[in-house]
Amino acid sequence: MPSPFLIVAIDGGAASGKSSTSRALSERFDFLHADTGSYYRAVTAELLRRGVATGSVDAVRAALGTLALSTRVEGRSARMEIGGRIVPEAEIRSPAVNAAVSHFAAIPEVRAALLAYQRGQAEVARERGFRGLVMEGRDIGSVIFPDADFRFFLHADPEERARRRAREGQTDSIAERDRLDTSRKTAPLTCPPGAIDIDSTFMTLDEVVNRITGMLATRLSPVA
Ligand code: CDP
Ligand code: CDP
Repeated sequence: MPSPFLIVAIDGGAASGKSSTSRALSERFDFLHADTGSYYRAVTAELLRRGVATGSVDAVRAALGTLALSTRVEGRSARMEIGGRIVPEAEIRSPAVNAAVSHFAAIPEVRAALLAYQRGQAEVARERGFRGLVMEGRDIGSVIFPDADFRFFLHADPEERARRRAREGQTDSIAERDRLDTSRKTAPLTCPPGAIDIDSTFMTLDEVVNRITGMLATRLSPVA
């Protein structure tokens, strides 16, 4: 029997472990990894570079049509290109982007502009011969892939998440982003019905990855 192509959605608040978990799963199962937070961050960096303010929805709308989004696959990572350029990591993790990203992400037009792009990553994964797609974000299991084969929601106490970010040497407005992400009208951060909830406050990264691996392995054998 041919192997299934799996779509795995991983959602959760800031520093809940989405990226490290998704990256590890992409290696264990040979999945393409799409970090949609980095997509929102790249678009935010580009809008800020063009002088678009978070409050000026008309200017945001005008800019969105001119972004020219494409994808570059590097290893197992699906990176967003804007006008053929990958926005450098230092820029997308900058304090200015940390402060602005949730404001741009709350604008329905911004979310609509990224919807088809994000769904299109499944096609990119198939074309490149990956065995599936692991996509992380805030609304992957609720809006982007509500029919994903597996949908996970990662929790961790806010104090633990702040400690995790601090260990990485980052200044980040985690609590404020969570507040904005949870309270926005369009695609708020929430654990959708039917998603598998994992509280990782007292779990190591390996324990989280092993638990998810055990569930995915009922459908597809790990390669690593
Ligand atoms: O890495 P961290 O969890 O701190 O954040 P991120 O995943 O890089 O996402 C940055 C911001 O993008 C979030 O705070 C959300 O405002 C927005 N985002 C979103 O609205 N929807 C997604 N699917 C992913 C990110
Ligand atoms: O992508 P997200 O912002 O949700 O979190 P991350 O960047 O994957 O994880 C933030 C930090 O927490 C990283 O340094 C991870 O190694 C660490 N982490 C942890 O200590 N325990 C876990 N169970 C998961 C992540």
